[in-house]
Amino acid sequence: MNISGRAVLVTGGASGIGLAFVRQLDRLGARVWVVDRHPEHLAATREALPHLAAENRFLQADVGLEAEAIAAVEAVEAASGGIDVLINNAAVLRDQTLASRLGKKIRKHSLQDWNETLQSNLTGPFLMAREVVERMLTRKQGGLIVNISSISANGNPGQSAYAASKAAMIALTVTWSQELALYGIRVCAIAPGFVETAMTRQIPPLFLETIRRRTPLQRYGTPEEFGHAIQFVIENDYFNGKVLDLDGGLRF
Ligand SMILES: NC(=O)c1ccc[n+]([C@@H]2O[C@H](COP(=O)([O-])OP(=O)(O)OC[C@H]3O[C@@H](n4cnc5c(N)ncnc54)[C@H](O)[C@@H]3O)[C@@H](O)[C@H]2O)c1
Repeated sequence: MNISGRAVLVTGGASGIGLAFVRQLDRLGARVWVVDRHPEHLAATREALPHLAAENRFLQADVGLEAEAIAAVEAVEAASGGIDVLINNAAVLRDQTLASRLGKKIRKHSLQDWNETLQSNLTGPFLMAREVVERMLTRKQGGLIVNISSISANGNPGQSAYAASKAAMIALTVTWSQELALYGIRVCAIAPGFVETAMTRQIPPLFLETIRRRTPLQRYGTPEEFGHAIQFVIENDYFNGKVLDLDGGLRF
């Protein structure tokens, strides 16, 4: 797919890796819309990309809430004339173990954190993909869905909810790629290793440093490297139903 002129919706595009996608696609001539729920991230990104702000390319919505997901997709459809690419990137991290013992105290994984993680990381992508694909089918137009997974999809101690949601992104990528190929819609995933963003700032520095040292390339990924990856995934029409692991060779 040629990127220039394409309508691309990036969820969670007001921070970190999503913002790297937005910058790269904007540079390549795509028409990019950002859907994010964080007012401060949105304000900072509007300021950083004033030409997109001038065209109302920033929408505040929680993709995990059905009404907000539908309204966001409808608004971008109306403004763009039809979404070509959806990047399901928005996600949260609520790290904790299933249960742990500290002295005499037992701490259990909170159900609220479990539910909130799955709502943003799994229900959100499901709702956004469902709404975008419905409109692609109505227009009899092909397209592309890119799901952002994680190296944690392989399982990672302290990340029950996050790892489960990211493994599910891979399962959905395979499932949807097989369901939707006959309509000319490709579905693929990118699984990042570690990149310094607002999300990784929640991880204890000592743990992050251990990860860096365990990475064969001895460093984190850069936003530019993720911009390059999204370009490959969009442009290469034979890349389908698969995950691009971008992790410096790290193994969990
Ligand atoms: N940073 C890493 O090292 C890393 C590693 C593996 C995978 N990932 C994945 O990459 C993606 C981007 O991560 P990041 O590090 O850039 O995170 P980030 O926290 O910097 O940005 C995520 C953005 O998503 C938004 N968001 C979260 N939940 C939302 C919701 N329900 N509705 C709308 N917006 C919502 C947040 O407001 C935020 O602006 C995520 O899917 C994450 O799981 C990141």
